[in-house]
Amino acid sequence: MVGPKGIASALWPRTGSRASITLLVRRSSPLTTSLPTRCWRAAYSSDAAASPSTATTSPKTVEINGKKYTTDSWFNVSSTVLALTSRKLHLQKDHPVAITRKIIESVFPAPTYKYYNEFDPVVSTHENFDSLGFPPDHPGRARSDTYYINKDTLLRTHTSAHEAELFRARASGGYLLSADVYRRDEVDRSHYPVFHQVEGARVWDRTKVPGGNIAAAVRADLDRLPTHNMKVEDPNPPFHAERNPLQAPHHSPDEAAAIAAHLKRSLELMVNEIFSRAKAAVAASKPTEETQETEPLRVRWVEAYFPFTSPSWELEVFYQGDWLEVLGCGVTKQELHINAGSLSQLGWTFGIGLERIAMLLFQIPDIRLFWSRDERFLAQFRGVEDNLQKLRPFVPFSRHPACYKDVSFWLGGVSAAGGGKGGAVDWHGNDLMEVVRDVAGDCVEDVRLVDEFMHPKTGRRSMCYRINYRSLERTLTNGETNEMHERVMKGLVERLGVEIR
Ligand code: PHE
Repeated sequence: MVGPKGIASALWPRTGSRASITLLVRRSSPLTTSLPTRCWRAAYSSDAAASPSTATTSPKTVEINGKKYTTDSWFNVSSTVLALTSRKLHLQKDHPVAITRKIIESVFPAPTYKYYNEFDPVVSTHENFDSLGFPPDHPGRARSDTYYINKDTLLRTHTSAHEAELFRARASGGYLLSADVYRRDEVDRSHYPVFHQVEGARVWDRTKVPGGNIAAAVRADLDRLPTHNMKVEDPNPPFHAERNPLQAPHHSPDEAAAIAAHLKRSLELMVNEIFSRAKAAVAASKPTEETQETEPLRVRWVEAYFPFTSPSWELEVFYQGDWLEVLGCGVTKQELHINAGSLSQLGWTFGIGLERIAMLLFQIPDIRLFWSRDERFLAQFRGVEDNLQKLRPFVPFSRHPACYKDVSFWLGGVSAAGGGKGGAVDWHGNDLMEVVRDVAGDCVEDVRLVDEFMHPKTGRRSMCYRINYRSLERTLTNGETNEMHERVMKGLVERLGVEIR
């Protein structure tokens, strides 16, 4: 599934429709008040200071969760996204993201696992990338994909950014960390610039297990784990010299196999817990129906690649007729433990995106809903966190009409036309997505590239995007949709230098 040395990342967003070549190594993976808030708020934030990277001016400093940061020319965080840094949906009682986190935590009990849920989203590029062995040219570092405060500081793109720190702390035999993570991305019903992940790790210490025998200790722990009756497909060997190598100088084959077995069982138990609850919720919502599903869940292990684990895997779940990637994991790269000063430690790590799981668990059809403050959404989950038996599928409260509007433009403005250089303009679709989100916020359901061509004579590139304006909370009037679209076009001209056709 993953190119020979491509970067697999279950939780890194889909890149299929992206124009950027470097992104080919990334692949699919790891939502009011009395005001129509996001629509209104975003409409208000089209001033230059609030603009993304493409703006001509940026604020000199920004404040995030009470701390001030100095920006530089790398700054590319829109005010819309900045405002989301304080929401912390994973900590809000009875929010579906928080409920999903709790269910996951229940499978990794204390005191073996220690829970961390309050880490700040602002981290260094070192923490987010270098400490994990990301190469300097990894596409995840690009400004088109990551929100930077300045050259050395960013909004974490994944919870793995805290691995080095937690391994240094050596506070427990394992941990679970939940947090908000940020990625510039497309606009559609399953992508949002902020989402949540849970990261988990388990560590064993050679100097603390009987006879120094890690493999035996890990297997003894594995024997203590519960079993399940899911159908598991795991066609590959625990490691493979070319595709999924053992960390030969650090781990013996027996140790790596034992750690892999413990990791896989632990994660299968987690998935089993989540999907059994999803099934039970559906069954409870249709008590009169005779034909309740009795098929066991099916999952499969797929080989993968992450810079900070080896061997690595993704876990896929067969759900409603499709295989869905739900998490990425692997045997922790020994360098992480060595750099943390723990020469005798080894173990596994995993990361899972919460929204995708919560969307399945609660049958939530649009990722924007998680950010809604509408009581018609929030009230449906009250009391669930303390009593998971109350979990039921979400009942959509409305379906408002879609309103499609196209925007066609030449790239690079007038100057790019000369000498046939129009096609060479540094263009990334995510910049357009950012302008749309910043201007129209959650009033946009999705944005798609519908046409693209190069003028045969001038060499200029033309693009046409289709924007679907549809609020989850109310019917948008024609007037306000037109007005938003006008402002989107103006934003594209001012911030990205395109020429509307
Ligand atoms: N951090 C990875 C991602 O966001 C997931 C991961 C975590 C993979 C831990 C392996 C181990 O895609």
